[in-house]
Amino acid sequence: MKKVTCTAPVNIAVIKYWGKQNEELILPINSSLSVTLHQDQLKTTTSAAASREFTEDRIWLNGKEENISHPRLQSCLREIRRLARKRRNEEGDENVSRILNDKVHICSVNNFPTAAGLASSAAGYACLVYTLAKLYGVEGELSEIARQGSGSACRSMYGGFVQWVMGERDDGKDSLAKQVEPESHWPELRVLILVATAEKKHVGSTAGMQTSVETSPLLKLRADLVVPERMEAMIESIRKKDFKAFGELTMKDSNQFHATCLDTYPPIFYLNSVSQRVISVVHQYNTYYGQTKVAYSFDAGPNAVIFMLEPTVNEFVEVVKHCFPPESNGDTYLKGLPVGSAVLS
Ligand code: PMV
Repeated sequence: MKKVTCTAPVNIAVIKYWGKQNEELILPINSSLSVTLHQDQLKTTTSAAASREFTEDRIWLNGKEENISHPRLQSCLREIRRLARKRRNEEGDENVSRILNDKVHICSVNNFPTAAGLASSAAGYACLVYTLAKLYGVEGELSEIARQGSGSACRSMYGGFVQWVMGERDDGKDSLAKQVEPESHWPELRVLILVATAEKKHVGSTAGMQTSVETSPLLKLRADLVVPERMEAMIESIRKKDFKAFGELTMKDSNQFHATCLDTYPPIFYLNSVSQRVISVVHQYNTYYGQTKVAYSFDAGPNAVIFMLEPTVNEFVEVVKHCFPPESNGDTYLKGLPVGSAVLS
């Protein structure tokens, strides 16, 4: 039996991906950009084993067996096995040949709430693809395969600041993740996760995006007119380590993403009253200082991701504790995460 275990971190989009132009290949209607969290914090750990004894491919997520015939899982398995076959044919590697005849068992666990808008599928599929690649001895550009599991997963294949370039080709070969800057570039940047609820979201991102593409005029406008310029401005703010520009763009893009959800018919509400209060606390804090010291971002759920620079962390954590005392909301908790290395191991 051959067994491999790897971990992959969550990434948080500061320019959001929302909407596909090709559902099967997962080609987005706009480019996006994210920050990959530190490997030791929110992460998925996946083990994959191949054995002659196994009679079928199987997968367990957080201890519960899931259906391996899910089309996206199958896309990832098929693509990795295709690359492994290619390698065997080119190099005649006996070990790869043997594993290709075996079935695999895959076991994956998250150390944070799954499907609660904390990018669990991003870390999950990035980890799955990386682990399978190690198992089958496949190397090279893997973000194209991770993308076919979950779009945002392609960005978790790299650490630091990562863009997913939407690409122009119909076959998706140029729809890839690229590192903008490594994690070491902006060591003062910090991320605070405020968990408003660990419940599963009501509308998954796949269904949500589909309805938005079909019904939201704002979504099309955003993809055509807003995101291209915003991507350039965001990359520049990161290169210059300009927190004001970075924070403002992050908040505006999160707000516009949730506006397109509201513009979708029937509307999708991911934010709740706790999220709205977090937004208000952030703006009040920035107004008090007369500058942008903290910035929020929300994915497809009510949990907040707050960006700030290191000197602001202690004070802002106190502000949050004051505004959200534990007894007022049993499941609100805090995590101060440094943005850091995402070297997949
Ligand atoms: O990759 P998916 O299908 O889980 O979609 C992710 C969508 C957002 O998290 C809301 C935005 C993003 O760019 O990560």
